[in-house]
Amino acid sequence: MTNQRASEVLDSLVEAIRGVIRERSVNYDEFHAAVNYLLRLADSGEIPLLLAVLFEATVDEVTHRDSDGSTTTIEGPFYKPGAPALEPPYQLPRRPDEPGDLLVLSGTVRDTEGRPLADAELDMWQAGGELPGKYSNVHPDIPEWNLRGRFHTDAQGAFEVETVVPAPYEIRKGGPTEDLLSVVGKHTWRPSHLHFKVGHPGFRTLTTQLFFMGGEYLDSDAGNAVKDDLIIPLNKTHGSERPGESAVGLSCSYDFVLEPHR
Ligand code: BEZ
Ligand code: FE
Repeated sequence: MTNQRASEVLDSLVEAIRGVIRERSVNYDEFHAAVNYLLRLADSGEIPLLLAVLFEATVDEVTHRDSDGSTTTIEGPFYKPGAPALEPPYQLPRRPDEPGDLLVLSGTVRDTEGRPLADAELDMWQAGGELPGKYSNVHPDIPEWNLRGRFHTDAQGAFEVETVVPAPYEIRKGGPTEDLLSVVGKHTWRPSHLHFKVGHPGFRTLTTQLFFMGGEYLDSDAGNAVKDDLIIPLNKTHGSERPGESAVGLSCSYDFVLEPHR
């Protein structure tokens, strides 16, 4: 049976690509190079990564163009559902000698009328603090669920979680995604960022990221995900007392706003 929506989107997609072939007079060598590139892309497992880099910011834009909640941005290819449920006081799981400066993030979750949302769930994930930042459950040398966890707001809609400042993330070297970016003269770095999915029954789940003022690559993010009001200041505070961890401590805060389901 014909799927009307799929048919419309596919027609537009094919027409758009045919338009490019005509406009740029794409020749047979280029056509065969594209076929080989796509075969290599599929073999590499980088389809989700390349699609996130090229198109997810636009999907986010159209999905949230009428949103009244906090600013959203892309989920990216490294979200893993089922992160550990944490107990207060909240700390993202980390190794005993986790590299990076200690970071305390605090804030609130509210509705669009400013009412605090108690027991909202924050599902948070991030890269580690050592350059280049790496994700658990993605990079094999990082313990499972490291720097990933789920926690909740208290009765006042407030939360606080301890973690480390993530390092900028670099897209894998030598793969088809890096090759494509380098052909068009772009670098492969993402600025240091924290990821969130914030949910509460009756509200639209908010997918977003937070970036840090003064961070590298904010104006040239390979993931095209930075938005000005997601860039927050880092304030100096006290560091870790755990042996092997950084004595430098930083704090930051952000207030999330969820909009009701429509
Ligand atoms: C990330 O969020 O880490 C990410 C997003 C897009 C491409 C690569 C990484
Ligand atoms: Fe990320």
